[in-house]
Amino acid sequence: MSGKTVILLENVKKIYQLGETRVFALKGINLTIREGEMVAVMGSSGSGKSTLLNIMGCLDRPTAGIYYLDGENVSQLAKSRLARIRNKRIGFVFQGFNLLGRTTVLANVQLPLIYAGAGKKEMAERAKEALAWVGLSDYLEHYPSQMSGGQQQRVAIARALVNNPSLILADEPTGSLDSKTSIEIMAVIQRLYLEKGITVIIVTHEREISQYCRRLIKLKDGRITEDTPVMNPRNAAEDLAAMPDEGEGQI
Ligand SMILES: Nc1ncnc2c1ncn2[C@@H]1O[C@H](COP(=O)(O)OP(=O)(O)OP(=O)(O)O)[C@@H](O)[C@H]1O
Ligand SMILES: [Mg+2]
Repeated sequence: MSGKTVILLENVKKIYQLGETRVFALKGINLTIREGEMVAVMGSSGSGKSTLLNIMGCLDRPTAGIYYLDGENVSQLAKSRLARIRNKRIGFVFQGFNLLGRTTVLANVQLPLIYAGAGKKEMAERAKEALAWVGLSDYLEHYPSQMSGGQQQRVAIARALVNNPSLILADEPTGSLDSKTSIEIMAVIQRLYLEKGITVIIVTHEREISQYCRRLIKLKDGRITEDTPVMNPRNAAEDLAAMPDEGEGQI
């Protein structure tokens, strides 16, 4: 891959202070991720996956080491600066969808645009466009509780991409979904980078999910122990097309 470097981590460490104890969550991470990559991060519970993702997403800062995002050293920026960088350049998808329950689908997707200071009409247009892209044009006035888990996750993806980010970070995006719905979500995530060229980083526990990515990074005890290309990566849309339709053949 020859794209420009989006993420460059140099000896990044994260230490959490818990009262008297110090937790060494990341012990010196060196990592380069280029534009248009699709990366899976795996590792057992407590290995530092979410900590790493939160630092890459500017939700948290490293204790030591340097983080360059698009060439800019963001390691020690003030929280308000980091919030602005997040809002402009990074989209987030979480296991629990993190949608506002008392707010319509359309309003949920507009949320990042409010922080970005867009006008009312433009907000509605862009949110509708993002929802159309994930196939949910008919659900604008629904509430999250009226939708399936897979549909809610698609709303979350629409919200993540509404600001045209260059980077989307997903922490266990299929962790709450059954296996077929998981592949449907992976099909949408694959389109993010195939159609939009967005750099995608996914934390997952499931080996099968990592097979839909192009590169696999494994963490153990706060260190990278493996960083390899995915051999014969799977195409989620093809896998779905090859699946038998549920209910077919039944009365
Ligand atoms: N806010 C925090 N305060 C103190 N310790 C923390 C905090 N967040 C994470 N840790 C610790 O840092 C280590 C890495 O945690 P992290 O959440 O990054 O793991 P993970 O790989 O995402 O695990 P899981 O698969 O369970 O989500 C763990 O030992 C955890 O207990
Ligand atoms: Mg985690």
